[in-house]
Amino acid sequence: KIPLWLDCDPGHDDAFAILFAAYHPALHLLGISTGYGNASLDRTTSNALSIREAIGRPDIPVIPGTRKPFSREAHHAPEIHGESGLDGTDFLPSPTTSALRCNAIVDMYEALMACPPHTAWLVTTGPLTNAALLFTTFPNMVDHLGGLSIMGGAVGTNFTHANLGRPFRDASGQTRERIGNHTPYAEFNIWCDPESAQSIFSNPRLSSKTTLITLDLTHQVFATESVRHLVLYSTKDEDRQNSGRSTRLRRMFYELLIFFASTYADVFGLTDGPPLHDPLAVAVLLAEYGDGQTRIGFDDRGRERFRIEVELTEPELGRTRISAASEGVRIPRSLDTPRFWKILEECLERADAQ
Ligand code: BDR
Ligand code: CA
Repeated sequence: KIPLWLDCDPGHDDAFAILFAAYHPALHLLGISTGYGNASLDRTTSNALSIREAIGRPDIPVIPGTRKPFSREAHHAPEIHGESGLDGTDFLPSPTTSALRCNAIVDMYEALMACPPHTAWLVTTGPLTNAALLFTTFPNMVDHLGGLSIMGGAVGTNFTHANLGRPFRDASGQTRERIGNHTPYAEFNIWCDPESAQSIFSNPRLSSKTTLITLDLTHQVFATESVRHLVLYSTKDEDRQNSGRSTRLRRMFYELLIFFASTYADVFGLTDGPPLHDPLAVAVLLAEYGDGQTRIGFDDRGRERFRIEVELTEPELGRTRISAASEGVRIPRSLDTPRFWKILEECLERADAQ
């Protein structure tokens, strides 16, 4: 099994990342750290606790991390995830357990270092403040790690098109392609703490172990109506589908997707369904280590590598510019989407059987 630590800010799509990491048979989820992001740290931590209870995995440690970036204020995304960070369902249990009041950075470090060298992955699906703090505090972590998978950033032109809808006019009145989601230029996770992102991408040894899941990829993976149906009804249980019966857990995930779909339609005019960004950062681990049963194909045109520069000032704050490099970050361009949905549904099936 591939050991991984998940650093997240749940978050509708983060909730699916937790499900995937907790229930994929080829993965061993060591723990979850939380950070500010989609909502405040207190809310994302409470949401992570609720999700671990909902999916029947109260054994997974949940540890709160940072409340804000080092040099900026914390920003949240209520327009996408609601005030709680996980709005839209009454099936989410209130947490009956509390988070471990330890130091998330030390706990991440100890859990990852306890794994054999070059095996364990850190997966981040929120702003990069916790991760930057980890690598700054414990630089030896970089060599020990198997890999780092980050959901963040957007590339745009000459890459897969991010499909973010309407072009926009820049300050000079020129019509430009929209590549970001939080701003026309920037993806939310990177925009929240661009300095932390830059500190990670500017470390060459770390970059060469990093896979970046950008909006260009996640905007190929929309939770359409047929996907939402797959989440609501087990594919293995025809009776259920015919009678329209579902389980609490499936209803919860279904309702989360409906809420996420409605905010994406309101904010971005994307009416097919929301892109399910975060579980892709977990799923990409299977591209390397999966076998015939568990593998998901990701295409990065023969392992091309990129250097990444993060824009640290307005008006393009948080933009991720790439240039081809012999060493550097991998950025998958496409994936076997039907296989991803099938494998995600199988994780839900296992959680449901608990
Ligand atoms: C990212 O921002 C958050 O809103 C999502 O959870 C995802 O991690 C997408 O830009
Ligand atoms: Ca997230």
